[in-house]
Amino acid sequence: MKKVIVLILFVMFEIVICHAKTTNICDYTDASISEVASGVWKISFGTPEKFTPEKFRDEPIQIEGFKTLPKAAKLPFKLTEIRCRIKKGRTIVYVPCNNSDEQIYGFGLDSGAFEQKGMRKFLSVSDSNFGRSGISHGPVPYYVSTKGYGIYVDTARIPFVHVANLMPSDGNISAKKPTGTGTLKTSVEQLYEGQKVVGRTEVVFDIPGAKGIDVYVFAGPSLKTAVQRYNLFSGGGSLPPMWGLGLKYRTYTSGDSNSVMNVAKSIRQLNIPCDMLGLEPGWQSHAYSCSFLWSNERFNKPQVLIDNLNDMGFRVNLWEHAYIHPTSPMFASLKDKSGDYLVWGGLVVDFADSRASKIFADYHEDMFVSKGISGFKADECDRQFIGEVMPFNYPYCSTFPSGIEGDQMTQLYGYLYQHSINSVFKKRNLRTWGDVRATTAIASPLPFNLYSDTYGFDEYLRQLVNSSFAGLLWSPEVRQADSLNELLNRIALSSFGHQMCLNPWWIPNPIWSQYNKSKNERGELLPVDEQTQNAEKIAAIVNQRMSLIPYFYSAFYRYYLEGVPPIRAIVMDFVKDKRTWTIDDAFMFGDSMLVAPLHNTDLSRKVYLPKGADWIDMHTGDKYHGGTVVTKDLVAGQTPIFIKNNSIIPLAQPVQYVADDTVFKITAKIYGDQPRSCILYEDDGISYNFKNGKFNKLQLKWSSAGGNVIKSGNFDRQRYQIISWQKVKSFRTEGS
Ligand code: GAL
Repeated sequence: MKKVIVLILFVMFEIVICHAKTTNICDYTDASISEVASGVWKISFGTPEKFTPEKFRDEPIQIEGFKTLPKAAKLPFKLTEIRCRIKKGRTIVYVPCNNSDEQIYGFGLDSGAFEQKGMRKFLSVSDSNFGRSGISHGPVPYYVSTKGYGIYVDTARIPFVHVANLMPSDGNISAKKPTGTGTLKTSVEQLYEGQKVVGRTEVVFDIPGAKGIDVYVFAGPSLKTAVQRYNLFSGGGSLPPMWGLGLKYRTYTSGDSNSVMNVAKSIRQLNIPCDMLGLEPGWQSHAYSCSFLWSNERFNKPQVLIDNLNDMGFRVNLWEHAYIHPTSPMFASLKDKSGDYLVWGGLVVDFADSRASKIFADYHEDMFVSKGISGFKADECDRQFIGEVMPFNYPYCSTFPSGIEGDQMTQLYGYLYQHSINSVFKKRNLRTWGDVRATTAIASPLPFNLYSDTYGFDEYLRQLVNSSFAGLLWSPEVRQADSLNELLNRIALSSFGHQMCLNPWWIPNPIWSQYNKSKNERGELLPVDEQTQNAEKIAAIVNQRMSLIPYFYSAFYRYYLEGVPPIRAIVMDFVKDKRTWTIDDAFMFGDSMLVAPLHNTDLSRKVYLPKGADWIDMHTGDKYHGGTVVTKDLVAGQTPIFIKNNSIIPLAQPVQYVADDTVFKITAKIYGDQPRSCILYEDDGISYNFKNGKFNKLQLKWSSAGGNVIKSGNFDRQRYQIISWQKVKSFRTEGS
């Protein structure tokens, strides 16, 4: 028997066993547990840290939303079975994960992996993807299980997570029976047999630096409800301004007022719907690091430009990063509220200090927001990984006046930036819709879309699906393409993102005039008629998105009110159908549409339609039973879309942009004979008045007698006009 002197302390209801021989190791069991919202428990171990995503939360828990959820279901383990060990320099959390018949999803904006069980994740923020490592623009220490629960470990440290893949030495080793009869088996499979985990399996979070931790547990009954509870706990999903659901076009980095106006005019002439124009680094007098001042040379009359663009129906978004150049008016006041290392010669703002955050926010309000700027893009707030010649990082050993450490700041920089900028808009009762290249947990209420320099098509698609488990928004943007098919398929994917964005920031001429980067740079533009055709094809894709705005906007309302992600992995809705457990390249878009984008340059793809519903092909009206695999042949830029039978889809006449007084003219399309009613949410689309109940609910109902709208709520204007009801003919096909 092991001889260990054990010291037992009772702290609150917690049992702490500190091993006196192996100094500095304390095991925590039966910790103090509190229910912080219905079906959400907080378990505190040791001394949790001061700088964590939860401690910086932007919104209170969305308590009202919990009332819409089913009663919390029993967890597959006892809360007291979640253990913690605190050692010198690290905290370790162990969560039971004993079911062989269980899959795990989450950990943020993973680009490489979908099913996470058996993986080892390194949840470090980064500007690049590293396979299936978990390193990403939005690493989130939150996961959900097909058994219907979720776990969040509240840390801004960089955890290693071992997802039920370790073999504890105190496990039931004898359970692993020898496979041979004495002869050594040497095939790869036979040798690797030994790697299979035996004994007690757990998800192990290894968190360096922490001396304690808060762990949150989210009950089901389903995986989807666990995600809802997480989003509501985070403050509820963000509601974009309605214009945020249109297209964002980002202009050439070295452009000037004239070239920006020319792009804007062409977009309107070519009837490509567009709501936002983004200016890239060249708008500033100094960009790497940032002066946050307009360039006199290229933009000498910024107010005229902003007003002209606003008059044309464009919202203007400015690129920046939060590294403050000495020529910036903010430099002096932020000098003693920054880290002890510079990035590109600029200050790294100590956003953990609310005074620094306010200086940054106030400047943005005075200089930009009050002058008509509607949003910002926070670039390079992530981190270059080791191996780069000129990393733009500040080191983990950085010191900040607030006391936050360099590793924590690295993980939180994009997140805290969002809080600062969002505070400006909230104060002015305006919604914004921005871009950010890094975030973390508890981000559901933040109106910023993640984006990336990486450009893998399949990764972009997987990131869209994975974002749904972690309260993140993702903008699979388009910069260039090697062929027209690739261009159109990429744009089609973007059109189903949380944000649709064309970001040809590094090519001087509009993307429809030449999508090949080098040719565009050399001025080798396509023949004019091809340019026009390209513009028409792009417009057709954007028009489809515009027609879905009322539907998609209402899906975002559910995100805010009930925590349901507007875009989500199919497994979230159809967990009972195990074939959905592996689908990382198709997703639910709102409640009734299954979207399966064409990959890369492909013109055909297979789509699995889950059991539990019948499905109608939106393009052809063909109807299929769930459980069917359908092969779709289409043209580039078209997207296979399947409507859940018995749904009403409100389709709007596309507009060129969403003005504050736009009234969408809607045709309610009826799929199936007994459609469920469909809810549309209507409000001013720009303010936070919806939080005080200033919105309407339109219930669209269909019976054999025809369509009917039941309207309730406190918003006194009309944004939707139902102009017709159309019963869609559907056909039973051979495959069904
Ligand atoms: C990159 C960013 C691009 C573009 C560019 C401008 O870091 O990902 O979208 O903004 O900087 O220099």
